[in-house]
Amino acid sequence: MPTTVLVTGGAGFIGSHTCVELLTHGYDVVVVDDHSNSSPHALERVAKTAGRPVTAAYETDLRDRRALNAVFDAHRVDAVIHFAARKAVGESVQIPVAYYDTNVGGTTALLAAMEQHDVRRLVFSSSCSVYGDATKVPLTEADPVAPTNPYATTKLLCERITGDVCRRLPGLSVLALRYFNPVGAHPSGHLGEDPRGVPNNVMPYLAQVAVGRRDRLRVFGDDYPTPDGTGVRDYIHVMDVAEGHRVALEHLDDEHGMRVFNLGTGTGTSVLELLAAFSAACGREIPHEITGRRPGDVPALVADPGAVARAWGWTTRRDLTDMCRDAWRFQELNPSGYPG
Ligand code: NAD
Ligand code: WQD
Repeated sequence: MPTTVLVTGGAGFIGSHTCVELLTHGYDVVVVDDHSNSSPHALERVAKTAGRPVTAAYETDLRDRRALNAVFDAHRVDAVIHFAARKAVGESVQIPVAYYDTNVGGTTALLAAMEQHDVRRLVFSSSCSVYGDATKVPLTEADPVAPTNPYATTKLLCERITGDVCRRLPGLSVLALRYFNPVGAHPSGHLGEDPRGVPNNVMPYLAQVAVGRRDRLRVFGDDYPTPDGTGVRDYIHVMDVAEGHRVALEHLDDEHGMRVFNLGTGTGTSVLELLAAFSAACGREIPHEITGRRPGDVPALVADPGAVARAWGWTTRRDLTDMCRDAWRFQELNPSGYPG
């Protein structure tokens, strides 16, 4: 069982919640994050929430190979969880080179440092976006992949690259987890999603409308072939995602090589259903208007979470009510996000 875990992107949304989950389960955690999309204050919140701090936090770009090697020299790392990446789909269309550079270049730099330091366990953040314009739901890991934007392509490339490295390094174990739509916050309200600028994703946007930072939610299309016409997604509580990573660590040694799993709940929720659930959580109607479709959106993306349940005996535990309650608690307690 790994005891010291290197978490890249550990100050980010999913990374910070995973750090808490690991620290409260006895793991020692080392973080590498350049804070290009996070606040260093997130790690103070991690320490407060978990009751103990991470062992070390390096403000380092993953692609700085000298600095990354120094981190591996300084700690006996048993396993790596690799979150660090750029993640905005629309932006990836505008600045594709930056996305390939950070996401693919960061991953190859990490794989090189792991090989050099004989670290043989990796959990990689992949994404449901690799499935592209899914023609059926729910999606299993065996369904075809067909990325439709540079961001999604970087995730698929990283899966392929780690697969190639696994074939070359027989002792390497990699779990690539394809998350669907992570939302929510730690139930304490100390940690949550704090995007910079205008949120791209629906849940932080809703939370900012609810707290008065934005006037209304724009619902992107109500003419999809879904029950109420709005987009259907598989929202998964970020604490379930964090727990999924802790459980993944326990299963890295089950077999060598590359394995891919969906991380979702199997339940689809429409934008209007999400809006209603969030309104109930915060106790007021959230203003909204129906606008045109957002380019690139698909009608429905829902996971078949059966493979991970069969492999690990693990399923998600939190529902939409929990997701909205916890997202709202974080936003209400931190109306402007993290300080600084
Ligand atoms: P996030 O932006 O909150 O966290 C990513 C962290 O990585 C940030 O703290 C950022 O500062 C750091 N980072 C970025 N580039 C770096 C670099 N070159 N060197 C060091 N640190 C760097 O994003 P998140 O929502 O926590 O996502 C984590 C991972 O999960 C990403 O790989 C993302 O692609 C993947 N993912 C996210 C979602 C989602 O909806 N949030 C869904 C599927 C997959
Ligand atoms: C959800 C639904 C929108 C905003 C993204 C990435 C994906 C993965 C998860 C990283 C859709 C609607 C949204 C708004 C709206 N991330 N919406 N008004 O697009 O499913 O997935 O995050 O890997 O790769 O693409 O998430 O939260 O943006 O949208 O009506 O202001 O909400 O049309 O139906 P998405 P989202």
